[in-house]
Amino acid sequence: MAGASVAGSTGEAAQPNANHTRGGIHLVKHPLVEHHVTRMRRESTRPSEFRGLVRRLAALMAYEATQDLPTQPYQVTTPICEAEGVQIKGRIGIVPILRAGLGMVDPVLDLLPMAEVWHLGLYRDEATAQPVSYYDKLPAKRPVDVAMVLDPMLATGGSVTAALMTLREWGVANVKVLSLIAAREGIDAVATQFPEVQIYVCQIDPELNAHKFIVPGLGDAGDRIFNTLEPHD
Ligand code: PRP
Repeated sequence: MAGASVAGSTGEAAQPNANHTRGGIHLVKHPLVEHHVTRMRRESTRPSEFRGLVRRLAALMAYEATQDLPTQPYQVTTPICEAEGVQIKGRIGIVPILRAGLGMVDPVLDLLPMAEVWHLGLYRDEATAQPVSYYDKLPAKRPVDVAMVLDPMLATGGSVTAALMTLREWGVANVKVLSLIAAREGIDAVATQFPEVQIYVCQIDPELNAHKFIVPGLGDAGDRIFNTLEPHD
């Protein structure tokens, strides 16, 4: 899959991503990704289809975001003989931001069945657009080696920033953020504050509206995943 790193804040010059081990913004470019993001944007896409799109995009993105995971030699016995192989090295933590991040957990866990899942509960206050933490059971010690933060949306970046602060306090050395759609100003703010963090995104939208929603965006991912939208009159 063709990833592209977007080094600057303007985003007009996506360069081939030769080095995934450094932090920064990685725009996942692929016809399937663009197709599924477009379906997600449609107001008429029902929650049942929306959930499937989130899963598909999370899997495509996780494939891209895991290509630099360290491995170590691992010998196996086949039905025929001994063979040299590899296994993923170190502990990997999947860190979904509740609620919407839950929609991305299963496809990522399918690819990384050995991973641990550590939930962070954050919601955005509707009046202030500031993140409010309501669930965090991370242990005080023994941080995972790699954390993969899952949240379909990065708007102001406040929620991801709060999650990254928590993971920094835990002592995680290698952190990746997987977000399906981001606003330019939010993703730039996170990348500036956490230059060592790899941020993977399928789509960067140009702006936020007065309510701090991504434009054109896709509405509220959590409500669309869990079918909790207010009915239209
Ligand atoms: C949404 C989204 C992110 C956050 C993005 O969650 O899933 O967590 O807002 O906004 P930010 O970048 O400005 O912080 P929301 O607060 O709607 O909670 P939910 O997932 O429970 O619906």
